[in-house]
Amino acid sequence: MPVDLEKIRSLCKRRGFIFPSSEIYGGLESTWDYGPLGVEMKNNVKRAWWRAVVYERDDMEGLDAAILMNRWVWKYSGHEDTFSDPLVDCRECKRRFRADQVQGRTCPECGGELTEPRMFNLMFKTFMGPVEDESALVYLRPETAQGIFVNFLNVQTTMRRKLPFGIAQIGKAFRNEITPGNFTFRTREFEQMEIEYFVKPGTDEEWFERWVEERFNWYLRLGIRRENLRQREQSPDELAHYAKRTIDIEYLFSIGWSEIEGIANRTDFDLRAHSKSNPENAHSIENLTYFDPETNEHITPYVIEPSAGVDRTMLAFLVDAYHEEEVRGQKRVVLKLHKELAPIKVAVLPLLRNRPEIVEMAKRIKRDLQSVVHTVYDDTGSIGRLYRRQDEIGTPFCVTVDVQSLEDQQVTIRDRDTMEQIRIAADQVKAYFLEQFGCHI
Ligand code: GAP
Repeated sequence: MPVDLEKIRSLCKRRGFIFPSSEIYGGLESTWDYGPLGVEMKNNVKRAWWRAVVYERDDMEGLDAAILMNRWVWKYSGHEDTFSDPLVDCRECKRRFRADQVQGRTCPECGGELTEPRMFNLMFKTFMGPVEDESALVYLRPETAQGIFVNFLNVQTTMRRKLPFGIAQIGKAFRNEITPGNFTFRTREFEQMEIEYFVKPGTDEEWFERWVEERFNWYLRLGIRRENLRQREQSPDELAHYAKRTIDIEYLFSIGWSEIEGIANRTDFDLRAHSKSNPENAHSIENLTYFDPETNEHITPYVIEPSAGVDRTMLAFLVDAYHEEEVRGQKRVVLKLHKELAPIKVAVLPLLRNRPEIVEMAKRIKRDLQSVVHTVYDDTGSIGRLYRRQDEIGTPFCVTVDVQSLEDQQVTIRDRDTMEQIRIAADQVKAYFLEQFGCHI
């Protein structure tokens, strides 16, 4: 059984991963703040993604586009007209639901009658400058993708790229979801990790398959259990307005199989939509085409888009890593996170905090390690408690300094998952962890 999201929410709060936003004022519905451990883990997820899709490939560039964009972007991308969900209201309790998430015309909360569905645009609006009128209206981007499309030529020409190549971007996106919830699974402010991969028309189907496989394996490589991950083809009536085909990567949460990433074949929809040659586009000043040196023709590339949510992906990693075990008659909660994702890599613990020589040696080891691997020092409890605390936050290794260490200059290294302990020379600790973590620190 997948662990209940409530258990993960509670651990995240208790251990400094994720807090309710604006909590001292009663919170703000479904918004969350990533605490000291949460921000570390989230950065690790983003770094692991960036490394896999940018550094470890020859065909990718990175980008960090602005959240606020010219309003025409959202008109011609189709979002102003079609980025909407059907909304129904309960005439009795006044609650709102997505029409596709309720059955029939009865309120699931109070049994009252529901209104007819009406379309509700999910884009957040704000105003640019001091005047709050229609001409100053801007949107908070609902996907990072459009920042990539409108920079297609900038990146392609400055980096002298030939097809196929891709652009990767990580950043915030905003959607005024009708029914946010399930912890960080569906929120109104979230982060996306998106790739737009530009290919020659006709090669798009092959590249689509390749990206599905590549992205699916990324989760497995980072430790997600195979039985908790699946691919699901979207049916034609589910497809977004721009997509020819989409496969979702889904994780088995306690709320059921749910999308953590979608890989879409967006065809040439967006590049065409933003081009001045598009008869319906009265505002663009560029044609987003590519000059193919092999055929001496200008073509509009097709686009394969692997689009993942940082928050959902992180939630899946947390859920998958969560284990409750019985050790010598006691419950042990352990996050068996991949060591690349763990927020803290090493904890250095003195066995006795009232022995200055032990404390001093432990602090020295911590200082020595901190330049190569994220390390903490903790002496705020008995060794058993300290181990449990590190297990619960997923720290892969603990280094313990004890009385014997003062004599033989050796320390104990404890493995989080097996709880096995080895003794090594204190001056070998840094080399040991450099080997354990490689460059993934
Ligand atoms: N550019 C394509 C696009 O945005 P999407 O399926 O709407 O596609 C991609 O979103 C990913 O973004 C999803 O797979 C999910 O992980 C994440 N995501 C979307 N809406 C979200 C929300 N309200 N809260 C958290 N994550 C969300």
